[in-house]
Amino acid sequence: MDRIRIRGGAPLNGRIPIGGSKNAALPLMAACLLTGDTLSLANLPHLADISTMAHLLAELGAEVEMNGDAPGGHSGRVFDLTAGEPAEKTAPYDLVRRMRASVLVLGPLLARWGEARVSLPGGCAIGTRPVDLHLDGLRSLGAEIELQEGYIHARAPGGLSGGHILFPSVSVGATENLLMAAVLARGETEIANAAREPEVADLARCLVAMGAAIEGIGTDTLRIQGTDALHGASYRVIPDRIEAGTYAVAAAITGGDLSLEGADFESMEALADILTRAGAEIGKIEGGVHVKRGAGAICGVDVMTEPFPGFPTDMQAQIMTLMAVSEGASMITESIFENRFMHVPELCRMGADINVHGASAIVRGVAKLSGAELMATDLRASVSLILAGLAAEGETIVNRVYHLDRGYERIEEKLSNCGAEVERLQD
Ligand code: EPZ
Repeated sequence: MDRIRIRGGAPLNGRIPIGGSKNAALPLMAACLLTGDTLSLANLPHLADISTMAHLLAELGAEVEMNGDAPGGHSGRVFDLTAGEPAEKTAPYDLVRRMRASVLVLGPLLARWGEARVSLPGGCAIGTRPVDLHLDGLRSLGAEIELQEGYIHARAPGGLSGGHILFPSVSVGATENLLMAAVLARGETEIANAAREPEVADLARCLVAMGAAIEGIGTDTLRIQGTDALHGASYRVIPDRIEAGTYAVAAAITGGDLSLEGADFESMEALADILTRAGAEIGKIEGGVHVKRGAGAICGVDVMTEPFPGFPTDMQAQIMTLMAVSEGASMITESIFENRFMHVPELCRMGADINVHGASAIVRGVAKLSGAELMATDLRASVSLILAGLAAEGETIVNRVYHLDRGYERIEEKLSNCGAEVERLQD
């Protein structure tokens, strides 16, 4: 298994290109199942999860054609996706267990073909990750849902009908699944307490480009008028706000100065607020976002993760690493997932002073972390260990970096181009 070796201490200075958003690209790819026309998606990042979704869509009868940079300045890759009728409307356990976002094929398969058989995703390192909100929402649109032998069997023989859905708690994936189901349902659907993440709005805008009628995009109430069919479209994925946020923290923690090319400042405002209060300088520049360590030290700031526009849970591990070397203390509360502190024991092995009490962690800043051999557990915990290694004294080795490859494209290249001493060790 690949490992990454870092020698810490170098400030990061320069420019980092920000790729397309993984968490926008995955539902956008699933949306190709809603039409027999070609959906052309540009600015797709080169990530393991994108390849897994492409593999799943191919299993479901979609033709997946990948091109390089598109004409007209699209950066990143372009996928042309054309979904004919799948022989088997099944998303198998082997693929779903590797990537939970596979459950996003459920809504589109059911909407287009009236049936779907999708493996229950099961839990992962950060929590049990149930899908009850997805299933209850689909039942509100008339779907018959049974759970058999670890699979979701969903049927809507006469097609789906519009309905009113009120989510008891905010769910990004459930909102996306129901949005894709409702666009082909008969009549009007209202989704209340919908997730407002930029990735959800990106999916909604793409569906509109495919002929869907959706109002309230970007708000917590979505109103959809079902249509008989959707057509193809060309659409460019938004930049990855979590990749950008991760490199923003890298600039702050190493005392560097980075321009994040292509980053969208508006989608990063909750993080920008925390970084500013901690003593970093972050702002919008032409074509991206600029971040640097301020004149003074980084000080401790309390953080609570919340649904968008609150502080993103996908940035919790990264901000904790910064707080671990701040002057002062910080209380970090994880309100979205029940087990998202897997990075804490590894950071403590580097000398961090962090105590977890239930959903909160008390972080007392230390002057320096020291390099160590570490184990990555999940995507964002892994990258927090990379950040810690960049700031630590001495050498850090991060094992099981396949977690990283799911969400960070060419991370060692992007970091070493800005002065980091980092390399991938292939075993
Ligand atoms: C999406 O996951 C993201 N993944 C996650 O990013 C992100 O952390 C999460 O949203 C929250 O922002 C993708 O977009 C592919 P949820 P999702 O449904 O949709 C509970 C990363 O690192 N819940 O908003 O699975 C759930 O257990 C990944 O890029 C139910 O109880 O998240 C969690 O506690 C990690 N029942 C909370 O809601 C359900 O039916 C929020 O989950 C669904 C969710």
